[in-house]
Amino acid sequence: MGTWPGGAGWGPRKKRIDLYASSASKDAKGGLEMQDDVGTGGHVPVMLGRVLELLGPALTGPDPVVVDANLGLGGHSAALLAAHPSLHLIGIDRDPFAIEHSTRRLSPYADRITLVHASSGDLREVLEQVGRPVVNGVLFDLGVSSPQLDEAGRGFAYSYDAPLDMRMDTEQELTAETVVNTYSAAELTRILRVYGEERFAPRVAALIIKERAKEAITSTKRLADIVRDAIPAATRRTGGNPAKRTFQALRIEVNAELSALEAALPAALDALALGGRVVVLSYHSLEDRLTKQALTARTRDTSPPGLPVPLEAHQPRFRLLTRGAELPSEEEVARNPRATSARLRAAERIRVDD
Ligand SMILES: C[S@@+](CC[C@H](N)C(=O)[O-])C[C@H]1O[C@@H](n2cnc3c(N)ncnc32)[C@H](O)[C@@H]1O
Repeated sequence: MGTWPGGAGWGPRKKRIDLYASSASKDAKGGLEMQDDVGTGGHVPVMLGRVLELLGPALTGPDPVVVDANLGLGGHSAALLAAHPSLHLIGIDRDPFAIEHSTRRLSPYADRITLVHASSGDLREVLEQVGRPVVNGVLFDLGVSSPQLDEAGRGFAYSYDAPLDMRMDTEQELTAETVVNTYSAAELTRILRVYGEERFAPRVAALIIKERAKEAITSTKRLADIVRDAIPAATRRTGGNPAKRTFQALRIEVNAELSALEAALPAALDALALGGRVVVLSYHSLEDRLTKQALTARTRDTSPPGLPVPLEAHQPRFRLLTRGAELPSEEEVARNPRATSARLRAAERIRVDD
């Protein structure tokens, strides 16, 4: 196992990139409860058939390389490795337990994988570190994994009483408890409104400020109760658990999910070889909007209007492979409720820069 702590020459933000030799396993304490060493814990990769179909044509050349930028339980990765016998896979996750689990699960492919504990926001640096700056495919399966949601102790779920944590990377400092107990009313309102699309954001923020003045808010249950009390009774009776939007907002803030995606998407597109493909699965409108913007920007002809011939330098470097966002089938949603909000977009590199 080699470790690069990042830092010098990589700009002001501290970056952490830990690279694992393919067959190495990190001694992470606690973490995923696994049914068996290479098991899936009942996890079903979302829109798997479509992901394989879209990435497949890009992975047929000699020595293809694919990046799974959200390794999780390694479900998509295992299927890609099984489908393409000469494929090398670079798997990235910011959750050390995901790396630990996938190291075991993907051990049958140990000589064809490189697993990296890092944020996909640092994708460019990760690819440089592993010596593969050009790749044939990149998959993003954004958001939280089943074990992150299901493990009470990680504090992602309002349905369990647990410490307010919500860190995907358990080695980072910022937790949901810090956000809830130290951010100003204005900051909390903004986060709840923008990341949670919570229309009662000012009321929820005001009640959080009032309650934390009595005693620090340290548990998911107390926060869920505060949110419930802040929402008008008539609204509370409709539309599921009112804490859902607040928990989503805090999770996105704690893990800087949108800024990571904003950095990762252009880095992924830049890294693609001719014919290389990117597939993005997002789970809420903010992620899908960022994805749509990043892909649209690269698939447009930017020639000034009115020219007699199109300018080569302004021709799009990519083409869209999906019309709008594709959704999972009703059958998949019935089988796997976590696929419900999935939106899939994909693009292919059709030109390289000189
Ligand atoms: C939906 S799960 C991926 C599931 C995976 N495709 C599978 O089949 O098992 C999302 C994973 O992405 C990770 N993640 C989220 N944001 C990340 C980021 N910015 N960088 C790296 N990993 C991230 C989470 O820790 C989680 O394990």
